[in-house]
Amino acid sequence: MTQDNKQVLLEVRGLKVAYGGIQAVKGATIEVREGELVSLIGANGAGKTTTLKAVTGIQPIADGEVHYLGRSIRGQGAWDLAKQGLVMIPEGRGTFTRMTITENLQMGAYTRNDKEIDADIEKVFGIFPRLKERRDQLAGTMSGGEQQMLAMGRALMARPKVLLLDEPSMGLSPIMVDKIFEVVGDIHKQGVTMLLVEQNASRALAIADRGYVMESGEVTMSGNGRDLLDDPKVRAAYLGE
Ligand SMILES: Nc1ncnc2c1ncn2[C@@H]1O[C@H](COP(=O)(O)OP(=O)(O)O)[C@@H](O)[C@H]1O
Ligand SMILES: [Mg+2]
Repeated sequence: MTQDNKQVLLEVRGLKVAYGGIQAVKGATIEVREGELVSLIGANGAGKTTTLKAVTGIQPIADGEVHYLGRSIRGQGAWDLAKQGLVMIPEGRGTFTRMTITENLQMGAYTRNDKEIDADIEKVFGIFPRLKERRDQLAGTMSGGEQQMLAMGRALMARPKVLLLDEPSMGLSPIMVDKIFEVVGDIHKQGVTMLLVEQNASRALAIADRGYVMESGEVTMSGNGRDLLDDPKVRAAYLGE
């Protein structure tokens, strides 16, 4: 499916990010169009998380540009960007372990002041019945997979225009991995634009409209998700073939 006619919501152009003397991202260019699910794959240490941190205003940009909704994100903090719908689910989930499920979901709406927050919590419970069952339980008492569901539910409470997910399947049991990829696909079908960072390359590319491969801070390949999945170089490097 071609989406060239769709508006570019997120544009990363020639992005460079450094930690002191270490160049973690060395000129990455990535585009996410309205309605797309784009997967960014690559080995541990390739610079994927650093890219997401730069995009969300958490890590300073050394060079290059990041545009969200056509405007530079420079000078805008994570809160401002989240308020405009650019929302990240961080690596390791980032749930508030000493708050209940419901309180975590309410925290997800911290950039909002409308009257539909309770209705949106019910919608999240519709997507994740498990969270509804445990609504009054402390988040810290749940399994990794349940906490990932909570992290996704909390992000949805911000009404994201572009949702950035960092390794949602990491450390989960095979059944939970299936569940998480299923939900990512469902959320995408409901119209949320997504940039999905994953080490599980086969699953991430299988559900993606397009994908990018990152190696040592550089984007080395890009294309249609299916084409990348069938590419012998990708298969050799990331699918163990
Ligand atoms: N806070 C940090 N300080 C110094 N180096 C870091 C920091 N975070 C990441 N790095 C380095 O930057 C590179 C990219 O890391 P990262 O973006 O986390 O990769 P990925 O998410 O693809 O695994 C790695 O070499 C990593 O060691
Ligand atoms: Mg990472």
